[in-house]
Amino acid sequence: MSDTLIAPSILAADFANLQRDIEMVNNSEADWFHIDIMDGVFVPNISFGMPVLQAIAKHAKKTIDVHLMIVDPDRYITTFAKLGANILTVHYEACTHLHRTLQAIKAEGMKAGVALNPHTPVYLLEDIIQDVDLVCLMSVNPGFGGQSFIENTYAKVIALRKLISGKGASTLIEIDGGVTHKNAKQLKEAGANVLVAGSYVFGAQDPIETIAGLKKMTQ
Ligand code: DX5
Ligand code: ZN
Repeated sequence: MSDTLIAPSILAADFANLQRDIEMVNNSEADWFHIDIMDGVFVPNISFGMPVLQAIAKHAKKTIDVHLMIVDPDRYITTFAKLGANILTVHYEACTHLHRTLQAIKAEGMKAGVALNPHTPVYLLEDIIQDVDLVCLMSVNPGFGGQSFIENTYAKVIALRKLISGKGASTLIEIDGGVTHKNAKQLKEAGANVLVAGSYVFGAQDPIETIAGLKKMTQ
């Protein structure tokens, strides 16, 4: 399998020095920007919205991976495309008509992702996996950075990898929440393609070195 992609989560950046932190990611070995949008309804927290994403997109030189933790995401698909999202991920638990939502995301020229909460089993994606570009497995309950990794995630990665291969799909597996040097290698070995890391990267003394370390241990 190819190298694991590393996606620093901007939720853990210093918002008073956002441009500096974006340039840090631009100059690092990171592959994507992971952007968490929370509405205070789907999750018990509000992060930031469109104006902040617009400011990020102005400086970001890498793929923009937007993770929507919001109810009724269909309302904003066109808006996020215009703001520069390259990948738009919606929650399985927030979409009554997931197939339609994914087609709408693709129609706007973005890659379509589906996120699963820790309690949502991967087999629920059996009949849609071929239409999904990326599955984001939540390895914490969404809403906050800095939480600890839920160990059951390894089993979910293995089950999802099996489901993807069984259907001949090319879906990427992304892990979001509590990623550190302690679980990165094992996640890669279980079949993960993309690791999101927020507090582990931005809380480090040397974020560039920390990103390089994650990259190296998941080669
Ligand atoms: C959680 C967010 C994550 C979060 C990860 O709701 O979706 O992307 O920023 O942060 P860490 O890596 O600190 O768990
Ligand atoms: Zn996220």
